[in-house]
Amino acid sequence: MIFLVDFGSQTAHLIARRVRSFGVEVKIVAPKDAYAKAKKEKPAGLIFSGGPASVYERGAPTVNKKIYSLGMPILGICYGQQLTGYLIGGKVELGKIREYGPAAVELKGRTALLKGVPRAFEVWMSHGDKVVRPPRGFWVTGKTGDVAIAAMSDDKRKIYCIQFHPEVSHTEHGSLILENFVKLCGLKVTSHGVEIKDLVEQLKQQMPEGRAICAVSGGIDSTVSAMLAAKAIGKRLVPIYVESGLMRLGTKEQVKQLFAKHVGVKVDVVEAKKEFLAALKGIEDPEKKRKAIGKLYIRLFEQEAKKFSDSKYLIQGTIYSDVIESQGTRHADKIKSHHNVGGLPKNIGLKIVEPVREFYKDEVRLIAKKLRLPGAVVWQHVFPGPGLGIRIRGEVTYGRLKMLQRAETILQTELNKVMEPRETWMTFAIYVPIKTTGVKGDARSFGDVIAIRSITSFDAMTADWTRLPYELLAKVSSRIVNEIRGISRVVYDITTKPPATMEWE
Ligand code: XMP
Repeated sequence: MIFLVDFGSQTAHLIARRVRSFGVEVKIVAPKDAYAKAKKEKPAGLIFSGGPASVYERGAPTVNKKIYSLGMPILGICYGQQLTGYLIGGKVELGKIREYGPAAVELKGRTALLKGVPRAFEVWMSHGDKVVRPPRGFWVTGKTGDVAIAAMSDDKRKIYCIQFHPEVSHTEHGSLILENFVKLCGLKVTSHGVEIKDLVEQLKQQMPEGRAICAVSGGIDSTVSAMLAAKAIGKRLVPIYVESGLMRLGTKEQVKQLFAKHVGVKVDVVEAKKEFLAALKGIEDPEKKRKAIGKLYIRLFEQEAKKFSDSKYLIQGTIYSDVIESQGTRHADKIKSHHNVGGLPKNIGLKIVEPVREFYKDEVRLIAKKLRLPGAVVWQHVFPGPGLGIRIRGEVTYGRLKMLQRAETILQTELNKVMEPRETWMTFAIYVPIKTTGVKGDARSFGDVIAIRSITSFDAMTADWTRLPYELLAKVSSRIVNEIRGISRVVYDITTKPPATMEWE
């Protein structure tokens, strides 16, 4: 067994899941109990998680220093590295700004922890403090452009530290690093994570006969769910795509092609652009818009589903965080009512099947990779269920929708020229109906505003705004005001979450 000492990390559960997926037992323990419990229960190794605190903060979580003398291998991740540096004789510098997002690590020297990892690879960082001098006996084993000590190890004492997060899928070779640690603890790796064939087998048993219908949007959760189901029940699967007109340009075609090429089942398209616009007419309140969109979506979906008389199952792309959020353990306050395909009616007379219910978004991405879905699907940005309906401030009209779709296309086209999708959580345009003055040609124009928002996050709970390159912003801004009539100004949203949410509505 391995102990995971949780310093308040948002990814503690993810670390535990990753390690468990190797067939190893993991017990999550609180820092204050870690020493006594480790001494008594003698786990094979200890992992110190990340956490939001600074080691210099009053009341920052810490462990009894004697834990380092127990002789068990220790892996310190992020805060775990800083705390190790702080407690056993290194030097930690208080961070003035938080480094958040992707970074390139270059390996230095050798350590058993990073065996098999290439000399240079991409990782995910999220920290304020940093270790600037390692404790005695440690070697610096990795650096990035901003962090001189991105990894350090004392291989003799088997204490390994990394500043980055191996548990998130954005970190390349993260699984290998965790696997190396498990082996360094003297444990056997008996499995390599989720097996597609097991998931498919389960679905076969869950759906022995009859059709299964499935709402698809082209998003990763519904695509992976449908693809697993298709492997299990083949043509008995009926994927339904509701064309609300609130999606980005080209989504319908992309979904059709994706299913034809990778899932091998034809998508049933329900055309409903006019109905959605009619349902949204005159509504300005974001919550009312969400409800109107959700209600109509469900009605159309039900109507379509009834056409297939031998349907028995409803496949939903619910993921683990949806389950947690709907139990109300994460957002104590209801900030927004999230409508997505996970909110489909339960009384539709069909049995609900949720192929990826047990997995975090990150794990769904790993499954998508195993299914050989293209990178554009695996790393695509999250797109809200109500779509552009909640990215138009105020009333949704045909004209505003068209302008926003064009702005969104320009933004995505320019973004894809200079960045990989995985470098940001979401980058999107918002339509702001405020008239401002401009000059187009020689004439005065008086048009609306397009706002650009770009977010860096890995869990959607907290987020920073991305420092997009100025050249990219300049290009996008100039193209939007020049190519879209009715828009006079482009602004860039530089607000973090919290206090702002990601979406404007
Ligand atoms: P917020 O705006 O709450 O967004 O910071 C967090 C993440 O959730 C997505 N989001 C939604 N997804 N239906 C959805 O399916 C919704 O109504 C909705 N509102 C926000 C948002 O895009 C972001 O990724």
